Amino acid sequence: MDRRKLIKSCSLVAVGSMFVPGFFDKVLAGEKEIYKKYNKTLLIKEDGTPITSKDIPDNTVLLFFYPYKSTPCYIINTGEEVKPTKVKLSDGKEYEFKGGIGNKKSIVAYSAICPHQWSYPTKDFSLINYYPSNQKSETTGKSGVIQCCAHISVFDVKNGGQVIEGPAELPLACVELLEEDGKIYATAVVGPNQFEEFFDMYKSDLIEQYGNIEKAKELLDKTVVMEVGKHVKEQIRC
Ligand code: FES
Repeated sequence: MDRRKLIKSCSLVAVGSMFVPGFFDKVLAGEKEIYKKYNKTLLIKEDGTPITSKDIPDNTVLLFFYPYKSTPCYIINTGEEVKPTKVKLSDGKEYEFKGGIGNKKSIVAYSAICPHQWSYPTKDFSLINYYPSNQKSETTGKSGVIQCCAHISVFDVKNGGQVIEGPAELPLACVELLEEDGKIYATAVVGPNQFEEFFDMYKSDLIEQYGNIEKAKELLDKTVVMEVGKHVKEQIRC
């Protein structure tokens, strides 16, 4: 697939004021939502049973879709505790990132849609990938990060998806995870999400894949967590 088809330019709307996730179901910051509750979605394995933190070993990344049927996310076991932190936006505003879940509090999840120009893992290839702590990026030398090779933006998985380097100005949106009776649920998206831009940019691709745009925008009650290679033919690293 032509990369130009994947990476198209479009202007971003501004992000805005500070908030505390949990106060409101939907927080508006300027024109951009930076905390939004969606369905409480159960994460399941391919056999239909609930996934547990034990099913996600250290230094593992898996793929699932949330909150919509067509919006990909990564769930990552970093192998180390991920502490709560504040994520700072380029305008100086900030919001809370709750940190990891699981026994070691090492499991986090992020939207896999790059906030720069919306590269995402398609069925054919993915330019935005996780580099575990034992695998360095050739271009940036970084590990333990999500890096997008479309224009080399690097996001800090242990710090709420903040930009470490590259042209991206916004952090990766985080998926809020809830562990309840050993089951894992996705409950909200924290940070400036890119869903409207994604739906606008890839409308024709999504219609081709899902039949119509409404199907691509279906919210999920359950979502299958899978190896990245089950969904993506080629993970392009750099
Ligand atoms: S789309 Fe430009 S760095 Fe990801």
